[in-house]
Amino acid sequence: MKAVRLNEIGGPQNLRLETIPDLEPGAGEILVNVKRAAFNRRDVFITQGLYPGISLPRTLGSDGAGVVAGVGPGVAGPAVGTPVVIDPMLNWGNDPNLWDAKASSILGMPHDGTFAEYVVVPAQNVHPKPAHLSDDEAAALPLAGLTAYRALVTRGRITRDDVVLITGIGGGVQTFALLFAAYIGARTIVTSSSDAKLARAQAMGADVAINYATSEAWAKEARAAAGGGGPSLIIDSAGGDTFAQCLDIARPGARIVTYGGTSPKSNVRLFSIFWKHLDILGTSMGSPSDFAGMLALVADGKLTSAIDEVVPMADAAAAAERLNTSAQFGKVVLAID
Ligand SMILES: NC(=O)c1ccc[n+]([C@@H]2O[C@H](COP(=O)([O-])OP(=O)(O)OC[C@H]3O[C@@H](n4cnc5c(N)ncnc54)[C@H](OP(=O)(O)O)[C@@H]3O)[C@@H](O)[C@H]2O)c1
Repeated sequence: MKAVRLNEIGGPQNLRLETIPDLEPGAGEILVNVKRAAFNRRDVFITQGLYPGISLPRTLGSDGAGVVAGVGPGVAGPAVGTPVVIDPMLNWGNDPNLWDAKASSILGMPHDGTFAEYVVVPAQNVHPKPAHLSDDEAAALPLAGLTAYRALVTRGRITRDDVVLITGIGGGVQTFALLFAAYIGARTIVTSSSDAKLARAQAMGADVAINYATSEAWAKEARAAAGGGGPSLIIDSAGGDTFAQCLDIARPGARIVTYGGTSPKSNVRLFSIFWKHLDILGTSMGSPSDFAGMLALVADGKLTSAIDEVVPMADAAAAAERLNTSAQFGKVVLAID
């Protein structure tokens, strides 16, 4: 079968389209014929050696949608041919509040992932594809949708009364956070370095859009636009000084959820945290119940994924480089052909 593989660290250009042996599902596993996969920042970080537990060579890819191609011993279903979407969070553990840090892992490293014609995954990670989503939209959903759902709903405890600030809206998780927050009925403020991305975010439901690259006062503008002393819920993965400024503009008592640090170092002012009684909430990926909650949220057919582009397997390296330079808006999808 064809697969996009990483053989050595060195950046996105090291991704190669190769032919590798076919796979067989083992006990408790399902073989999925992948139709579409999708990139995450994680795939780029892995090519750059900026991720824990890298073992090479490896087929990358955490996101995938396709059809069931076979089931291993002890697996009752779904039937061969069923359209499915894959939960990339493997072995979360028994506590919905916290993953089992030792036993859990994410599809695509250290296990072979979805950038291939076939992938083998535990049966409990395979779910029926939401009927209204195309293969492209379904493949875009799993990792970013799950992370956004847990950040906003499970950890952030969002309600329709919240004013939610989402920084750097171009990223995949951030576009899902916007879609979910707007759907829930909260007021939304987004930031981006690109006016074109801000316009797309407004078309998706953002109430206020601010360019952080052209306006040095973006944080003050966000606080003023929020009213009530600032946003009541902030979803940030930019990190760096952006995170520090989020603390300064948060409403007293606000919740701030962090799941990433795309920018490097920051000068966090502890004063803002204790003086304003802020709740700082860390989150990563999500539990099986988060994945089920996310699928339930999209089930009524009103939400679709923000897709930047769909590229063939032969262009995987160029697509990963597009993420590396943050040129995309939403998800870059890989057509498995
Ligand atoms: N812990 C987890 O489970 C988990 C899961 C998923 C992702 N993550 C992490 O979360 C981050 C986002 O991942 P992703 O794949 O969704 O998207 P991504 O492609 O990494 O997002 C990139 C976007 O971040 C924004 N950004 C970069 N620097 C910024 C700054 N200084 N201020 C504000 N925004 C800035 C940019 O938005 P604009 O282009 O709009 O300016 C850029 O497009 C990554 O660091 C990733 O590793 C963590």
